[in-house]
Amino acid sequence: MATAELQRAAFLLLLLASCCRAAVVTQPRKPANSIDVESILSKRLGLNKKDSPQNQEKVEVSQPATLALVQTMLEMPLGLNTSMERPPEMLYHDAFWEIVDLSKQLSASSADAVSLLKKITAKVTQLPTHLCWSVTRRIVLAGIALHRINAGPYSAAAQAGIATLCQRFFELHKQAAVRKGIVDFFHVSKAGGTSFCQLGKLNGCRTQSFAARRNCLIREFDDVPRWVNNSLHKSLAPEGLRTPWFANYGMKHNAVSCRLRKKFMLRRRYNVYANEFTLHGGTRLARNVHVCPGHLNVLQLRHPHDRLVSHLKWVWALYDHHFKEQAAAYFPTRDRAHWGALMPAATHNYLIRSMLGEAVYYQDAKLLDWSHLELARMTLAQFDVLLLLEVPDMNTVLMEMGLGWGLGFGTVHARTSSQLHEVGSKGLPPDLDEMLKANALDLELYKFGYMLAHLDAVLFDVAKEMGLGVGYEAAQIRTTGEGGGDGGAQVAGQKAQHPGDDEQWELTGNTTLPATCGYVTMNDKNDPAVEWLLV
Ligand SMILES: *[C@@H]1O[C@H](CO)[C@@H](O)[C@H](O)[C@H]1NC(C)=O
Ligand SMILES: *[C@@H]1O[C@H](CO)[C@@H](O)[C@H](O)[C@H]1NC(C)=O
Ligand SMILES: *[C@@H]1O[C@H](CO)[C@@H](O)[C@H](O)[C@H]1NC(C)=O
Repeated sequence: MATAELQRAAFLLLLLASCCRAAVVTQPRKPANSIDVESILSKRLGLNKKDSPQNQEKVEVSQPATLALVQTMLEMPLGLNTSMERPPEMLYHDAFWEIVDLSKQLSASSADAVSLLKKITAKVTQLPTHLCWSVTRRIVLAGIALHRINAGPYSAAAQAGIATLCQRFFELHKQAAVRKGIVDFFHVSKAGGTSFCQLGKLNGCRTQSFAARRNCLIREFDDVPRWVNNSLHKSLAPEGLRTPWFANYGMKHNAVSCRLRKKFMLRRRYNVYANEFTLHGGTRLARNVHVCPGHLNVLQLRHPHDRLVSHLKWVWALYDHHFKEQAAAYFPTRDRAHWGALMPAATHNYLIRSMLGEAVYYQDAKLLDWSHLELARMTLAQFDVLLLLEVPDMNTVLMEMGLGWGLGFGTVHARTSSQLHEVGSKGLPPDLDEMLKANALDLELYKFGYMLAHLDAVLFDVAKEMGLGVGYEAAQIRTTGEGGGDGGAQVAGQKAQHPGDDEQWELTGNTTLPATCGYVTMNDKNDPAVEWLLV
């Protein structure tokens, strides 16, 4: 057996060894039968909205879009079973397959919703509490959504059944987050990762460094992004110029196992870190890719077209800043082909490459196809919390209920200074549209993730309505030239004028904000190495 496989077997055994606790159910402040589940479903799943087919690139929730994507989720288990090394939730195969089967039954229009919801709830209540059960919960929510679309509004009894079921899943999620003890943030470059890292700091999380260039990365984990083709950069470089950090595509990577990561974090009492490279495990084969089951795995998504444009501008500005008048040497042309050679992964389905490990990250563009999209959907569905940069008001619920973070940005968007924007715009390829078209698979993956985040929001909305949240305060950002707004906490910080400038944000004024990192610190009073904490 290869070392990687041995390590994997070892941590799966550890998972099994710590499997046997049932969820502690807390009493909600509002009972299940008082929650207006119908209006939550309607809002989050766009049940009254039709598609706008004239704009295929735009992503929104509408009934037709929901229908197609929740079907994909409901059909995922068989693919998961055959295409991936079995994900942790599937090790509990009896419970997993029974819940899948009941969810499929529920999705039919003729199904007896109340009795099936009861059966599913009974199964869910028995699940062990070391996992968030994100795949399982999304399958159940897909069944609930499909039945709603097929059969029309739920009865009062069925709504109460859904609320109770959501509460169970929420309890599981929260207890697992507490036991996991660290937030593992997957930072897809230019998708709002800096804001997330700074929010972690404001919420009282701990890591190696919150400084701009470090961005919650852990030096020893070697998770820095690989953007610019190192050998191409060097071949273009004028005599005597040093190679900057971002010209590291193709350079050696020291993979660190989940087990070592967890130990490293716990020993130093860190509770958040970011990975900005690609997912663990898929060094040779995508089927071995995995999130770390002992971490609370968080992913923020951004529309791939906007992400890509932002990335090109950023790297152009980096060259401009680092090399001044010599920057031109690296861009004999700035057309799509040159950008593609300079940033092979970042310009071509970067999200899929990020989700599938090193083998796919470096794979030739011609070899990336629908099978990779399918695999990437499976890894994406295993993240415990999915955030959407474009839907900040939903993120507030996801952060409060998914992470237990009491402070967020409300409706404030990620910021880029106008100066950076202006410099960066000059670098965009004239044939940008063609480049965007070549990212069609990423767009499909994004649509799927967009839907999953909305499914999650149904569950977290219900739990919040029941009074199970931690309370939430929206911080106002106060930067030069922008008003801070009134009420709430204020965050003072400077806009970065140059790429890599420090962007450390501080809370100002009178705040009553909690200095914790949410769920993952809820057992901090204990010895951090208590035996049931997962490694
Ligand atoms: C899942 O995969 C295992 C091992 O490959 C197989 O034995 C089992 O029948 C599969 N389960 C389903 C429901 O297909
Ligand atoms: C990286 O650059 C080298 C040298 O210019 C080139 O041979 C190689 O094909 C490039 N890699 C990719 C994936 O484009
Ligand atoms: C904090 O609040 C107190 C009383 O409400 C006030 O006197 C003080 O000026 C406030 N400080 C800041 C920095 O806003």
